[in-house]
Amino acid sequence: MIGARRESLTEMLHCSSLSTVRLNQINRYWNKKAKNLGFDPAATMKDSNLRELEIQTILSCLRKKDVLVDIGGGNGWATLRYAQKCRYVYLFDRSLEMVKAARKRIRESGLLNIEANPCDLHDLPKQIPKEVTVINCTRLLINLGSHKNIQKGLRNLIQSGPRHGRLILTEGIDSHFTTLNQWRIACGLEPIPLNWHNTLLDKSKLERTLKKSFVRSKKIHYGVYYLLSRILHPLLVHPEPPQFGARINDFAALISRFTPAEVEKDLEKISLLTTYICSDRKIRKP
Ligand SMILES: C[S@@+](CC[C@H](N)C(=O)[O-])C[C@H]1O[C@@H](n2cnc3c(N)ncnc32)[C@H](O)[C@@H]1O
Repeated sequence: MIGARRESLTEMLHCSSLSTVRLNQINRYWNKKAKNLGFDPAATMKDSNLRELEIQTILSCLRKKDVLVDIGGGNGWATLRYAQKCRYVYLFDRSLEMVKAARKRIRESGLLNIEANPCDLHDLPKQIPKEVTVINCTRLLINLGSHKNIQKGLRNLIQSGPRHGRLILTEGIDSHFTTLNQWRIACGLEPIPLNWHNTLLDKSKLERTLKKSFVRSKKIHYGVYYLLSRILHPLLVHPEPPQFGARINDFAALISRFTPAEVEKDLEKISLLTTYICSDRKIRKP
């Protein structure tokens, strides 16, 4: 019995050191991106049209009086846009090189209502400024290396937020990625490979947690954009590889911006990235 307990303790220690190794590898990846690309938007997202759709969704949820924490804000490309709308913005990121790139850009911009500091999501509950009204987290959880870390990270985000504040979460959904790839295969395209540093979120687990934690929660999808840019576009240019900067993607983004919500709802299942806008945290019974 004691032997079995010791074995499971060894196994636990082994798993946690594996998880640390993976998290450090992922952090090195982001440091390298920031060192090589600085403030270039491609440092954190190659598809500039999809990025702009994300930014527009997030901007539409922000108010003039908001004090925003952008956790995993990277080099600040999107965060600086939010600072033009909010009262004050704190960018936090685990990667020191990302923070360095963001600080340089903040100085150059002349904006006085934004600062960038190193902070791991793990430490967010301790570091969160008191006056915060909204937390934004864009494509950070998919970089946590395991489902266990994602659940922990999500708990930290929820705990850090103010009672009547909002949480805006944009993450990659596992089952949506599968459906998108099934559709591609049916059309004769190769499936899109998953980036080595990404772990996509389990939709039902995520939605269960959000439902338990918030009074209100709304979803925004980008299914029309995925259909046009990840299926139609590659079919049109086949056998050449599709380019993120192609004109058809600009049109895809334009069409996506004006797609009625009911149509987007029908294409929910191929929207790899999905934005959740949650508000009013429920108080847990002691
Ligand atoms: C895909 S990039 C997204 C950057 C930015 N949110 C954007 O919209 O472009 C993910 C960012 O999350 C950061 N990150 C990863 N794990 C983190 C953690 N545990 N705590 C804080 N930041 C983290 C990375 O350093 C990277 O800058």
